Amino acid sequence: MGIQANNINKFYGDTQVLHDVNFSCDKGDTLVLLGPSGAGKSSLLRVLNLLESASSGELHIANNQFHFSDSLCEKDALYLRKKVGMVFQQYHLWPHLTVLQNLIEAPVKVAGISKSAATDDAMKILATLQLSDKADAWPLQLSGGQQQRVAIARALMMKPDVLLFDEPTAALDPEITNQVVNIIKELSKTGITQVVVTHEVEFAKKIASHVLYLENGHVIEHGTRDAFSKPATQQFADYLTH
Ligand SMILES: Nc1ncnc2c1ncn2[C@@H]1O[C@H](COP(=O)(O)OP(=O)(O)OP(=O)(O)O)[C@@H](O)[C@H]1O
Ligand SMILES: [Mg+2]
Repeated sequence: MGIQANNINKFYGDTQVLHDVNFSCDKGDTLVLLGPSGAGKSSLLRVLNLLESASSGELHIANNQFHFSDSLCEKDALYLRKKVGMVFQQYHLWPHLTVLQNLIEAPVKVAGISKSAATDDAMKILATLQLSDKADAWPLQLSGGQQQRVAIARALMMKPDVLLFDEPTAALDPEITNQVVNIIKELSKTGITQVVVTHEVEFAKKIASHVLYLENGHVIEHGTRDAFSKPATQQFADYLTH
């Protein structure tokens, strides 16, 4: 099992932003989260790696189980984040660290891996993402597409079971977006479960094994990639043609 979410509810103050969200996906699936702005996609993603707690519900992810009525302990969240990585639209690289230092920071400081082992790992991952020559560069010397690949490389350093992406291609041009498509497809072959939030339907179609479509915090459609050609709901059909 990759991920199973049962009846997840989330409030910000008095405003409910997720309503009884249910879905599951298998290990190795690439689930694309679609929906209009404000639908709750980022909120759901943040709940999946416990960057935020939900108000109620149950989450099984990366062989961990959480009941959101219990108070979540920060130790659980830290442990889980080693297994569930997150890649953001704005990359969030540390500007004062080189590419290599960005990659080895968490493995060395959080996971207690030796610096030389982490460096070996980092160089292998950089090679697979065609970034070997950037190991000693500073993040701000890189293009947007390169920074996004470094952010993916950094997430992979923790050998996550699940990788979450929030609009990974929003700032990228089409050619670089295709590189991200290829990276996500390659990762899916390794058995990593991926959840990808995007606004770009064409990008979504290229990577998705499954789709979850949200409106106003409600799951409207949940299906396989066939939903792109045969939507089960009028709302998703309208979204695809908007
Ligand atoms: N930290 C917060 N405090 C209060 N309300 C929030 C917070 N974050 C998000 N919201 C609200 O929750 C709702 C869902 O927001 P969310 O960011 O999850 O939507 P989204 O689907 O990711 O939208 P977008 O496509 O614009 O990124 C919105 O109404 C938003 O205003
Ligand atoms: Mg968002």
